[in-house]
Amino acid sequence: MRADVVVVGSANADLVVSVARRPGPGETVLGSDTEVLPGGKGANTAVAAAKLGARVSLLAAVGHDSYGRMLVDSLESAGIDTASIRHLERPTGVAYIFLTPDGENSILVSPGANSALSPADVRIAGGKVLVASLEVPLPTIEHAVALAAEQGIRVVVNVSPPAELSPQTLAVLDPVVVNEHEAAELLGPDSDPRRLLDLGPRSAVVTLGARGVLVIEPDGVQEIPSPQVAAVDTTGAGDAFTGALAARLAEGVDLATAARFAVRVAAVSVTRRGAQPSYPTADEIPG
Ligand code: RIB
Ligand code: NA
Repeated sequence: MRADVVVVGSANADLVVSVARRPGPGETVLGSDTEVLPGGKGANTAVAAAKLGARVSLLAAVGHDSYGRMLVDSLESAGIDTASIRHLERPTGVAYIFLTPDGENSILVSPGANSALSPADVRIAGGKVLVASLEVPLPTIEHAVALAAEQGIRVVVNVSPPAELSPQTLAVLDPVVVNEHEAAELLGPDSDPRRLLDLGPRSAVVTLGARGVLVIEPDGVQEIPSPQVAAVDTTGAGDAFTGALAARLAEGVDLATAARFAVRVAAVSVTRRGAQPSYPTADEIPG
């Protein structure tokens, strides 16, 4: 299969526990049974794009264990090309997720195999859009971005978790995608996220949670509101947004149009539990 959307990033087993409140230091809190769900920012982004009909491949790393098999199964049932997934002598990444009644979460990631995905593992042979996120080593992402840019592939990087991208990497991003915290990490506290273009990217998108997104382009800024929904689980909503954005950009639509669609995809995802299992197909997006 020739992929239009090439994703580079993490794959994690999400161990999800619902709790009345987060434990404080030295405190023990009882929670629900543990639910084990496929996650990881890279895999989530890939599944979001594939469920919307894009042809997607994922470059990621898992271990030789049951979580690794679960993740590859989830990707394959979404129709994703998994030929570039590396199977390494490290445990599959695990995310420990505490879910509170307001639909918010706290996540601790044990990266395992994700931290061993190396620049030498990266092959980019065509595609329309490369999408990357930062739960794998920065040199691996910067190498993938450079190869994609050389081939004229549009590059989207979700700088999550925050990382210090080189000026060469920033210069080719179209867009850089960040939430408000990540924007503050890149720009410094109290700075206006509209200044993201000063860092060099061709365009930027700032996700504002339930408020929607800001699309920042050289000729102006657009505020795109999100539909208001009752949030059950916001885990992976940003990945749903980025995957949907990439799927639409690969079809050749402009950034604001792609973002308008992607906020609706993310809004559906927060109304259901989990990350990947909550992502909608195109016919589930209200017209
Ligand atoms: O962005 C959500 C993801 O972050 C979860 O699926 C978890 O695996 C962590 O990587
Ligand atoms: Na969800």
